[in-house]
Order: sequence, then structure tokens, then C-alpha cells
Amino acid sequence: MERRRLEGKVAVITGGASGIGEATVKLFVRHGARVIVADLQDDKGKALCADLGSDDVASYIHCDVRCESDVKRAVDTAISLHGKLDIMFNNAGISDPSGSSILGEDDTTAVFERVMGVNVLGALLGTKHAGRAMVAAGRGGSIIITASLASVVGALGHPVYSCSKHAVLGLARSAAAELGKHGVRVNCVSPAIVATPLTVSYYQTSEEELEGLGEMISTLKGVRLKAEDIAEAALFLASDESRFVSGHNLMIDGASGVTKIF
Ligand SMILES: NC(=O)c1ccc[n+]([C@@H]2O[C@H](COP(=O)([O-])OP(=O)(O)OC[C@H]3O[C@@H](n4cnc5c(N)ncnc54)[C@H](O)[C@@H]3O)[C@@H](O)[C@H]2O)c1
Repeated sequence: MERRRLEGKVAVITGGASGIGEATVKLFVRHGARVIVADLQDDKGKALCADLGSDDVASYIHCDVRCESDVKRAVDTAISLHGKLDIMFNNAGISDPSGSSILGEDDTTAVFERVMGVNVLGALLGTKHAGRAMVAAGRGGSIIITASLASVVGALGHPVYSCSKHAVLGLARSAAAELGKHGVRVNCVSPAIVATPLTVSYYQTSEEELEGLGEMISTLKGVRLKAEDIAEAALFLASDESRFVSGHNLMIDGASGVTKIF
């Protein structure tokens, strides 16, 4: 029987209804955590929680991460249901194909506000309210942000998305420095290409082709990146095994980011 690495812990996972977030919800619950799934996709989020069993294990809350009162309510719900918050996974994110060229004729301001609103403001608000609750409780905590390979390379054809993912790295480092004195750690996980509804819709291709693309840009051969691999990285950062890891950007990219291929 596997050791439950999050026994007794309470987590909020934004963007928890789909893709990387959904895989992480399932893994955290398997490891003994009680999870609040915060998302916009109410039917998907509720169905996921119902599949996982009782409300005590996983509960869904409608939360738009761009809206401060929604984010505050998600954090406060964790505390009212379970008495505390140990883990905040700021994972909700979007990409926008209409901003796919720096020379494009799209409404740049609208694309910027859309993508930065979810990816950066969402992570900032999540870090703020989780940090507030964790500092007040005085028991430390772990805040994780889903960045991307695009946090360390300029992803070709994704200028605004690259801005947003570089930005959350700065957020994580700044928050890690400030919250460290309260025992609160802040880290990023940075996936390369994973086949999820976000990427399937962005690239307008199949999961199979996306997995192949991910393998092609990686220098690590014979392995295809899955949402579950990102969930495992988040599990490490959420658990006490990473108790001295803070301000870190954990790349899950099969060494794609150290080459010039991407
Ligand atoms: N899939 C990849 O290849 C990849 C690579 C690097 C980083 N990422 C990042 O991983 C994270 C998860 O993406 P995914 O690939 O699992 O995509 P996904 O579309 O499967 O999941 C994203 C979830 O975020 C939710 N969401 C979107 N806007 C929201 C908002 N305003 N408030 C609350 N929830 C919102 C969506 O409803 C969805 O459930 C994102 O931050 C994304 O940028 C993904």
C-alpha cells in the first residue's frame, strides 16, 4: 500500500475541473488530502467531486480567479469546511490563439487583458488570500503556481502567454521571499506540452499529435508527458518532503528548455 503523503492536509486547486488540475485533484485525494476544486466549469467540477466520494474529500466551488471575492471565498470555504488551508495550487490558466503573433492584427490589449487576467492576476490573488490564511494560522503552508516551459523560454508564437508565465515566476520568487518568514513556501511547476483541453483547442489537433510534439521538443526520448506527471511534481511541492524548497521553478520538460529546438 502506498504511503499517503498529504494525510490530514487541506488544499484548494484552481482550474481543478480539467487537465492538469483534475489529475492533481485525484492524486492529492489519493494521498489523503481534502480538496476544494475551484473552477468555472461547474458541471465538470461537481462531477469530479462526486466521483471522488463524499463532500468531506472533495468539494466544488464556482470561482473565477480574476475576481478577488471569488478567490477569497474559495480560501475561506476551505477553512470553514476543514478548519485550515495547507496547500494552494494556483493552476487555472488560459491561452489565446488570437494573440499568437507579435505582428498580428488582433486586439492586442484585449488578448493581453484576457490572458494576464487569468494567468497572472488569478495567481496573484490566490497567493494573496492563501498567504493571508496561512500566515494567520501560523502553521506554514505550500503555495504552488502552474507556470510553463514558456516561463523560461520565449515560446514561438505565444508572446502574451510567454509574458504571463514569465510574470508568475517573478510572483513566486517575490512571495517566497516575503512569506518565508512565516514558514510559507511558494514554488512553480513548469510543464512542457501536455495534451489537455487547453492545448488541444489551442493547437487544433489531437491528443496523440500533441503528445508527439511534446516528445519531439524534449531531449528525453521514449517518454510522453502526461497531466499525471505534473500532478506528481505538485505532490512533491505540496508535501513535507519539499519542506526546504521555496522560490523554485520545477521544470517538467524532459530538458526541452535547455536546448534551442523550441
Ligand atoms: N497543457 C499544457 O501543455 C500546459 C503547459 C504549460 C503550462 N500549462 C498551464 O497549466 C495550467 C492548467 O492548464 P491545462 O493544460 O490543464 O488546461 P485545461 O483547460 O484542461 O484546464 C484549465 C482549467 O482552468 C479553468 N479556468 C480557466 N479560466 C478560469 C478562471 N478565470 N477561473 C477559474 N478557472 C479557470 C478552466 O475551466 C479549466 O478547468 C494552466 O495554467 C496552463 O497555462 C499547460
